[in-house]
Amino acid sequence: MHISVFDHEGALAAALATRVADLVAARPATVLGLPTGRTPLPFYEQLVALSRARGLDWSEVRTFNLDEFVGLGAGDPGSYRRFMEERLFAPLGIAPGQVGFLDGRAGDLEAECARYEAAIAAAGGIDLQLLGIGANGHIGFNEPGDHLEAPTHVVTLLARSRAANALWFGGELARVPGQALSMGMAAILRSREIILLATGAEKAEAVQAAVRGPLTTRVPASFLQLHPRVSLFLDAEAAERLG
Ligand code: F6R
Repeated sequence: MHISVFDHEGALAAALATRVADLVAARPATVLGLPTGRTPLPFYEQLVALSRARGLDWSEVRTFNLDEFVGLGAGDPGSYRRFMEERLFAPLGIAPGQVGFLDGRAGDLEAECARYEAAIAAAGGIDLQLLGIGANGHIGFNEPGDHLEAPTHVVTLLARSRAANALWFGGELARVPGQALSMGMAAILRSREIILLATGAEKAEAVQAAVRGPLTTRVPASFLQLHPRVSLFLDAEAAERLG
């Protein structure tokens, strides 16, 4: 794994925005895998600003997001689709036809997971997958446990993950759905390149376990050790236990 440590999250966001903008400029039909969450917010802001400054063309880019809540769709304020529309897709002019998303309101959730994997394959696979990491070592909504489901699947969320998402629902835990759809680790590991972002001291333990610990379903991020092209973009706090 290649590890880059930045003094603060603004510097991390700027470096990553430059990296992604350069990629899109060099390869306009890039397929990006994207996370939601707090961690990528400064990066998305900087990417929008940099893209505008450079006049970057996003019309051929395809995107696939990692996960979505069951029961929520683009119109719902707490949905990840809405999050992405507001922060990235609309500001960059990325049209709905370019966007791949798990549909949390699909009638047959298993079929929806299979459809999503097929859509990624039909797009040629993901060139660059960006990831956040949960304080418990989760990736997407692949939660720690006795086993991991490798394909894209339906997840019952752990209390800790629901609590971490309450901020997208006005701080009301009761409004956070109990289930989600998530790309599985197998789908994530099929990406040609992966960059994991982590900021803040509350991620330091998970980062250490992911990078230095054994492969274990107790730390889903540890499976990233199996991938040949993984980079970590960390701020100093998230990196503090790497020594
Ligand atoms: C969201 C996702 C999650 C987050 C993780 C960290 O699409 O995949 O795994 O990356 O929960 O969330 P933040 O960045 O809010 O700390």
